[in-house]
Amino acid sequence: METPRMVVVESVEEVAQRAADYVEALLERKPDAVLVLPTGRTPVALYREMKRRYAAGRIDFSRARTFNLDEWVGVAPDEPGSYAGFMTEHLYSRVNLRPENCLIPDGLAADLEAECRRYEDRIRQVGGVDLAVLGIGQNGHIGFNEPGTSFEARTHVTAVDLSTQLANAYAFDGRPVPSRAITMGIGTILEARDILLLVTGPEKSEILLRALTGPVGEDVPASILRRHPSVTVVADYTAASRLAARPD
Ligand code: GLP
Repeated sequence: METPRMVVVESVEEVAQRAADYVEALLERKPDAVLVLPTGRTPVALYREMKRRYAAGRIDFSRARTFNLDEWVGVAPDEPGSYAGFMTEHLYSRVNLRPENCLIPDGLAADLEAECRRYEDRIRQVGGVDLAVLGIGQNGHIGFNEPGTSFEARTHVTAVDLSTQLANAYAFDGRPVPSRAITMGIGTILEARDILLLVTGPEKSEILLRALTGPVGEDVPASILRRHPSVTVVADYTAASRLAARPD
């Protein structure tokens, strides 16, 4: 099988619909499926679509399990920027996921290393991940696995690049963006049975081109997805523009 499969669509809404199709089909086939979920601007439309399909009786999340990719260190769920807060606002409060089935790394844990181990254990206990839905940072990061992170990394505490802090400043209401986060490791992500990479907007076109056509290496974390047997990239045409422009 050729990987990654490329699905290029017209709009952000269509990216969300295609991604929701994958989630819907998976939960139909396996109601207690294990999903990895991202935060950021990219998945907002997907979560809106998941809410719509739940409200329309098309998707039932009652047995689904979710693990988020990452969380900032030191940000409480009710504070600006919190990924736990983001997930509650955009998804948990809108569909019938059970709170006990929705995990996010605890960036407030007294022992962060122990929290990372606990997260890995929980993923193992549920039998691994069926579908990991990912976004991509402008420097090629997935989760908070910044350039230079080992492809074998498990869930760990990481230093967030300055460029990534700046890219996320919009969510912090003028407060300082934390310099540390907990992230699921690339090694953990690569164990997912299927991976869906969502990419939207012209500002992602350069990194998508590098990730999919440049050398596979730790300086572009998302490039390793090309070594996974089942990856689908769903991109809008603005994000895919440079790929399309490449001569054959
Ligand atoms: C953050 C998250 C990533 C996400 C990335 C892109 O850094 N840790 O998981 O993929 O931002 O975010 P956006 O979708 O807002 O471009």
